[in-house]
Order: sequence, then C-alpha cells, then structure tokens
Amino acid sequence: MTAPGSDDEVMQEELRGSGSIPQHIAIIMDGNGRWAKQRALPRVAGHREGVNSVRDIVEACGQLGVRCLTLYAFSTENWKRPQQEVSTLMRLLVKALRDETDRLYKNNVRLTAIGDLDSLPTDVQRELSDAFEKTRHNTGLNLNLALSYSGRWEITEAVKKIVSDAIDGKISGDNITESLISAYLSTSAIPDPDLLVRTSGEFRISNFLLYQLAYTEIYISKVYWPDFRRKHLYEAIRDYQKRERRFGLVSEQVKHLQTL
Ligand code: FPP
Repeated sequence: MTAPGSDDEVMQEELRGSGSIPQHIAIIMDGNGRWAKQRALPRVAGHREGVNSVRDIVEACGQLGVRCLTLYAFSTENWKRPQQEVSTLMRLLVKALRDETDRLYKNNVRLTAIGDLDSLPTDVQRELSDAFEKTRHNTGLNLNLALSYSGRWEITEAVKKIVSDAIDGKISGDNITESLISAYLSTSAIPDPDLLVRTSGEFRISNFLLYQLAYTEIYISKVYWPDFRRKHLYEAIRDYQKRERRFGLVSEQVKHLQTL
C-alpha cells in the first residue's frame, strides 16, 4: 500500500513528471526456478514468491495509471514441463485467483486473459470466469493474464478465423490489412505494448505477443521474477522514458510530429 507522502508516492509522482507512463506494459516473468535453486528450495517456492511480485507490480501499475498489464503466466510450451510442476502451477493459479480477486476488485482492476483457456483445468477456468465477472465493470488497470498462450498459437487461430470468414463471404482478400489482422488477435481490445520487460537477464521473446511487439521497447532486468518489485519496474519505466520511439521514422520527423 502506498501511503500519502511516502517515498513510493514521491517516486511515482517523479515518474509521472519525467515522461510518459507506458499505457501497456507486458512482462515475461522469468527466473522463478533459478531463484529457488539459489536458495536450495523446490522450484514451486519460486513460483509462490512470484505471486507476491505479481501483487506488488499490479498495485504499482494501477497507482501509476498504466492502462494495461499483460503477464506471461503460462505458455503453450509450459505444458511440456514435468507433470508435477504443471499441476502445482495450476493449483497456485487457483489459489492466487481465490485470494486476490477481492483485492483486484477493490483496487478497480479489471481481469482478462488471453490464450487457449479451454485447455486449462476446469477449476482454473471456473476461478477465472468468477474473477472476470466480478471485475468486469472496473475502470482502472486491465490486468491481462496470458495463460496457455503463445504468439504462434494466437496467429494460427487468427488465420483460421480469417479464412473461415472469407469462405463465409464476410471479408474479401482486399480487406486483409494489418489492422484487420490485429482485430482477429486475442488482444484486439487493447493497444500494442509500449514496454516489454523480461526478468532474469534472458534476451528472448519466447513466443510472446509476436505480432504485437513490432514497435515495443524492450527492457531486460537481471533480477529474478520473485525478487522483482515496484522499484525495479520504476527503473524499467525510467529507462523507457529516455528512449526515442521512432516507429521507423528519422529523429527529426519524430521531433516535428511532437510539435504538432
Ligand atoms: C518462469 O520462471 C515462470 C513461470 C513459467 C510461471 C509464472 C507464474 C507465476 C509467477 C505464478 C502465478 C502467476 C499469477 C499471474 C498469479 P521459470 O520457472 O521458467 O524459471 P527458470 O527459468 O529460472 O527455471
């Protein structure tokens, strides 16, 4: 919780004053296993502590005025992990949703999810739909969980739907534009991420938001996810604020556009 006049509130105010706050932040939460290994703990201990990081980052994003936070919580490829780790992660998800939904609701957070949600265990699906329902009218941060998600899976699904709509005569080849493709992705209702953060020092996209990350600024933090807290997020945003986003233009054009 951020108390009025606290160091945290001052830091948030400084960030708001020093540049634009990214409207959509996407995070690849990585390093849970290594965090646990460093402490001679089972991998699940890293995932458990990772939930505390999720709570802190969600709260900080809401307070800063970030519109959307997409967290890569479980990838399509993660199903291939040892069965015990997969079921522990699913149980953890159920518990986190049960424990945290009231707090999300009170903090005006709206929960959504992207991915092959039908492939999740029924208890996870049930907790998710309860949390979606409870928070659907909230107007603050959109917390978007990527679950059983991968960018290639999402693009494949979009192509299937586009082809099916073309066969049904709803669209023709001439209608197929970049924005039409965006509209068929699971993120159709949210803008592309401004900032992608990956923790644990790895320089990979790992099949995350492949279409949407085209012009996203990437920030790699060495910190393992269970240790990643709001002060690390503020460092990422400060770094983002120093960048010039050119979207393929030259610097002079960007500066001119800013004066208009
Ligand atoms: C990657 O670390 C992390 C995951 C695959 C799971 C992330 C899940 C959580 C933080 C908990 C639940 C999430 C929510 C949204 C409540 P890793 O296991 O790949 O770490 P390693 O690379 O060090 O082995």
